[in-house]
This record gives sequence, C-alpha cells and structure tokens, in this order.
Amino acid sequence: MKYTHTQALLLLSSCFCATSLASIISDARYVFAFSCSSSYTTEGWTGIGNPLIPYNKTCSTAGPNWIQQLVGIAGNSELIDLAVNGATADQDIVFTAPPDFRNQTAAFLSWIAPPPDQVPWTGDNSLFLVTFGTNDIVRSFFNSTGNGTDLHVKIFESYFNTVDKLYLAGARRFVFNNVIPFDRAGRGIDQGPVLQEKMKFNILDINFRLSVKANAYCASKKDIICTVFDAHSLFTHMMDNFKTLGFMSPDAFCNDYAEVHSCEAPGVAPACLGPISSYIWKNGLHPSWAADTLWAKALYGQLSGIQSS
Ligand SMILES: *[C@@H]1O[C@H](CO)[C@@H](O)[C@H](O)[C@H]1NC(C)=O
Ligand SMILES: *[C@@H]1O[C@H](CO)[C@@H](O)[C@H](O)[C@H]1NC(C)=O
Ligand SMILES: *[C@@H]1O[C@H](CO)[C@@H](O)[C@H](O)[C@H]1NC(C)=O
Ligand SMILES: *[C@@H]1O[C@H](CO)[C@@H](O)[C@H](O)[C@H]1NC(C)=O
Repeated sequence: MKYTHTQALLLLSSCFCATSLASIISDARYVFAFSCSSSYTTEGWTGIGNPLIPYNKTCSTAGPNWIQQLVGIAGNSELIDLAVNGATADQDIVFTAPPDFRNQTAAFLSWIAPPPDQVPWTGDNSLFLVTFGTNDIVRSFFNSTGNGTDLHVKIFESYFNTVDKLYLAGARRFVFNNVIPFDRAGRGIDQGPVLQEKMKFNILDINFRLSVKANAYCASKKDIICTVFDAHSLFTHMMDNFKTLGFMSPDAFCNDYAEVHSCEAPGVAPACLGPISSYIWKNGLHPSWAADTLWAKALYGQLSGIQSS
C-alpha cells in the first residue's frame, strides 16, 4: 500500500519533474475514468450499453478536458472514459437520473472485465481515475443538514463499496479527485451569501470524508497504490492568483461560451473578455479547458512522482 496526498500547490512549481523511474502514469497503458462530477470528465458516453463502442465526444470544458489533456501529456495511454454527465455516486442517496458510479462500474464489469482482447488491461498497466462529489453536492446541499456530514458518510460508504468492486475485478491503481471550490464560481455566488457559505462547507466536508475514506480503504489493501488529487487546492490557488496565471477573472464566465460542448475550443466571441482560455470557468459550474490544463499538468506531476515498484 502506498498512499500519497501531496498538495497540488507544490506541484504547480515542481511539475514535470521528469524521472526515468517507472511511475504509475508512465506505466499506464490504459486510463479508465469514472465520474460523477462527471460532466467534468465525460466524453459523452450515455452510460448505457458497451462503453467501448465509439461515440461522439463532448467536453463540458469548451475544449479538451483535464483527463484528455492528462492522457495527452502522458503520451502512451489509451483513455477509456465511462463518466456520464450529471451522475452522482449513488442515485439511491442523491438522486439524479444519469447512470451513477455503480452503473458505470457495472458497465465496466460487463464489458471490460475480465479484460477483452481489445483492452488487455492488468492491475499494473492501468489507472482508475474516480471523480465524484460535485453533482452530489449540487443536488443535496440546499436541503442538507448543516455541512451535509450525515449524507456524505452514506455517499462514501457506497463510493468505496463501488471502488471495491473495481478492486475485486483487478484494479490496483486508483486516483481520487476531490471537489473543486465551485462555491466561489457563478453557481455558488448565485445562491446568495448564506447558501454560498453552506455550499462551501458541504464541499469541504465531502473532501474531508473523501480523504479519510480513501486513506482507510487504501490502508486496508496490501497490493494497491492510491492517491487523492487535491483539485480543491489547485482551483483555490488558480482563483486567488488568476492574473498571474493569465486569467481575466476568478469567477466570471461568458454566456457565449457557457453552452459549448465541443472538445475543441470555440473561436473568440467579441462580447467576451477574450478567448475561452482567458476564463477559469466555462460557466457557473464547469471549468474551462484552460483551467483543466493546469489540472492535467499538476495531476501529471503528482502521478509521475509515484513510483510503481
Ligand atoms: C456523430 O457525429 C456525426 C457528425 O456530426 C454524425 O453524423 C453521427 O451520426 C454522430 N454519431 C452518433 C453516434 O451520434
Ligand atoms: C443503476 O444501478 C442501480 C443500482 O444497482 C439500478 O437499480 C439501476 O437500474 C441502474 N440503472 C441503469 C441505467 O443501469
Ligand atoms: C429541497 O426540499 C424541498 C422539499 O422537500 C424540495 O421541494 C426541493 O426541491 C428541494 N430542493 C433541492 C435543491 O433539492
Ligand atoms: C460546518 O463546518 C464548520 C467548519 O468546520 C464548522 O465551524 C461548523 O460548526 C459546521 N456546521 C455544522 C452545522 O456542522
């Protein structure tokens, strides 16, 4: 068991720490993504049927999302993206209609485990990226008690039961992204100060529970490597230092880009402050591809530092 939880902030400066040692990213021939903050990750699979059948890709980032960019930087991995827009970890706990983490995992178990000929993955040549929590909070914080703790405990019980199904199928290398501070983006600001504060504490609570559960789960297995990526700190850093990082605003978005779902960046809209890449946020909830570039680079840096043997 190896467990690391490095501050994303440190990695911004030490990114691309090139190393000749094998790392969990240099070893990764396959990158499997499961997501519920899933519109952050999804490429447009509906969650129904065989995820290996080609489908038209969409990106909520108006340009390539962090996971496509991560795989692009890594350069030697195939991305198999089972994320579904709008999903939660468990729709029996926080309901949204799209297939949840359990369903995405069920599809993996139906179609990709045991490994089919066209995807000969093993525990050592694959990475499992899991990104849930955003929709869980968006759909529950309003009515949650206090910081949402009771609900979040249930969510992570289900979440790690699902992770365990992947483990039992042979998954051995896990990356868990925490939830970014969208309370400071349009979606949070629109709530007014009281609910914005509640949203903030719900996000902090869910991230705290994720780190505790991930630590406990990973410590319970001798043969796995896992890491939590602190996307929350990264986005906090980005919003606090938006100018230095080349963005025009910590929280603004432009209506002309807000509904773009292409994985290629749109042309510059004259009514906006600049191209989509000058915004951290594509809309009130979803980052732009340029913010996702920093996510991909920082995560790549973290994964490069985790030796695989
Ligand atoms: C994918 O997009 C192309 C071009 O827009 C379209 O012709 C095709 O029907 C789409 N395929 C699916 C599965 O939606
Ligand atoms: C998702 O999983 C739940 C629980 O296992 C199940 O009840 C539901 O039918 C599944 N939905 C889909 C679309 O597969
Ligand atoms: C909160 O609960 C009320 C009453 O049950 C319901 O009408 C409302 O839709 C809920 N709001 C959210 C955001 O879930
Ligand atoms: C929410 O979390 C904050 C910070 O940990 C804490 O001060 C506050 O008491 C919590 N509120 C509730 C209702 O649990």
